[in-house]
Amino acid sequence: MLAPPPLDSLDARLYALTHRGNPGDVAHYVQVCQGARSVLELGCGYGRLLSALAEPRRALCGLELDAAFLRLCKETVSALPERRRRGVSLVRADMRTFRVEQLYERVILPYNALYCLLTAADVSRCFRAVRRALAPGGSFTFDVWNADGLDVSQLRESQADEPLTRVDHAGRSWSVFERCTVPRARDRLDVTYTYVPAGSGRAREQTLQQRYYRSSELLGLLERAGFDVVRKLGSFGGTRFGARSARLVITAAPRD
Ligand SMILES: C[S@@+](CC[C@H](N)C(=O)[O-])C[C@H]1O[C@@H](n2cnc3c(N)ncnc32)[C@H](O)[C@@H]1O
Repeated sequence: MLAPPPLDSLDARLYALTHRGNPGDVAHYVQVCQGARSVLELGCGYGRLLSALAEPRRALCGLELDAAFLRLCKETVSALPERRRRGVSLVRADMRTFRVEQLYERVILPYNALYCLLTAADVSRCFRAVRRALAPGGSFTFDVWNADGLDVSQLRESQADEPLTRVDHAGRSWSVFERCTVPRARDRLDVTYTYVPAGSGRAREQTLQQRYYRSSELLGLLERAGFDVVRKLGSFGGTRFGARSARLVITAAPRD
């Protein structure tokens, strides 16, 4: 199957207006990075979290593969006060293969970005790259929606576009619709967003390819990449992780 085409600037902006994170995630990552002098965010998108994490005297790097998101991210960072944006750098790279010039006290991979990696081999490559990027005593935190309770037999493709929200951009209103597709490949759940402008103009469509992983699979991959799990939460509020948790929020540290 062909990968979806890269996003153009308008696509990236519409995506950014639609995907605003999960309640509590910004506060969680701010707390995870508290006191850290160096932080690397993988898959930083349009800079939603970078703008909360930028601090004077902190080296903060955002790594992103998509050029349109990276352009938006530059705009997000340039809107920050000079003393907060001074330590921010942005790099176009692949989270599976990146190499860093300095080591980081925290590496974070927020908001389901791990599910953009469509094979377990890709997740392993990413985890190993993270391990190489961590400073001694450093830690790695990521969050994904919890796939443990998913009943695969109940997974159905949406028959129609479901209304999701409405966003405004450059004086124009767009109705956003969502449709799920379940590719034949193992544990895949793709989501297509259709943006329909008010009045005339063509609708735009974006498909996000996702592969979800059960918690046991992720824990096994972390273990094989040389990590110990330090904290495993079921929400950003700090609840313990269980099969019915909405999220899986993991902090791991390299095994000595
Ligand atoms: C769900 S978004 C998360 C964005 C941001 N972290 C946030 O919390 O708002 C996932 C991001 O990962 C990026 N991404 C996907 N695959 C990637 C890869 N192999 N290397 C680097 N970035 C990637 C996507 O382009 C997208 O910006």
